[in-house]
Amino acid sequence: MRSQLWTEDHAHHYDERHGDRFDETVLGPTVRFLNELAAEAADGHGPQVLELAIGTGRVAVPLRRRGVAVAGIERSEPMVAKLREKVSADEIPVTVGDMSTATAPPPGPGGFHLVYLVYNTITNLLTQDAQVDCFVNAARHLRPGGNFVIENVVPDLRRLPPGQDAVPFDLSDDHVGFDTIDTVSQRLTSHHVRRFDGDAWTRSASEHRYVWPSELDLMARIAGMEPVVRVADWNGSPFDETSGSAVSVWRLLD
Ligand SMILES: C[S@@+](CC[C@H](N)C(=O)[O-])C[C@H]1O[C@@H](n2cnc3c(N)ncnc32)[C@H](O)[C@@H]1O
Repeated sequence: MRSQLWTEDHAHHYDERHGDRFDETVLGPTVRFLNELAAEAADGHGPQVLELAIGTGRVAVPLRRRGVAVAGIERSEPMVAKLREKVSADEIPVTVGDMSTATAPPPGPGGFHLVYLVYNTITNLLTQDAQVDCFVNAARHLRPGGNFVIENVVPDLRRLPPGQDAVPFDLSDDHVGFDTIDTVSQRLTSHHVRRFDGDAWTRSASEHRYVWPSELDLMARIAGMEPVVRVADWNGSPFDETSGSAVSVWRLLD
């Protein structure tokens, strides 16, 4: 299994259920960071940017509104349909396909100053091979000297006591969340029991392959890239042993 398919139901509720990620305190720094990096890589020319797993355009749409030319690759047609309620295919063209293999719309391979993949979505690829292929595909789309950016969670294995395979991460009025972790395959299942607006409780689960920052660096190297910087968040906070997430930037070698 390469990754789960995001259904019509996911797409319909995505923006509302991930509302915290649409907050200006999150999106503002995200878009600023990507915009500055793209402008720097384009060196005075109009930056061309590609988002892998573009979803409903949470990041791409505000970036486009800033005048940046953005294209996308996205596997779920329902997610693209939601994006299309916000912008046309002329404004943000998208290829429906797998981000580890698909070819982006023009300017296509070798044409982008910046490729990015945010919100832990590299973990939606469930094998190391698929994750490496994703780096190779990102590199294939970059101009020499262009940047690849990944925002990804740092695996929280310190919270997994010896002999157990489950870690709770939320116990609130409307949500119980816990991860089950297989430390051999690096596979993680995120379990949710929740109710929305007083509706009936529902249970769901998503499948991931967790990946270490150092492993991402190795994947970048395999794809012909070198590390530029790793920070803890889009505001550029220093990355250290307490960081729960990382924003990593690599550069495609000439
Ligand atoms: C957490 S959402 C992120 C969407 C968007 N990037 C954002 O930040 O809001 C994950 C997205 O990844 C897409 N996705 C998962 N696996 C994929 C794959 N192999 N190729 C392309 N898209 C994929 C899903 O369909 C979904 O739209």
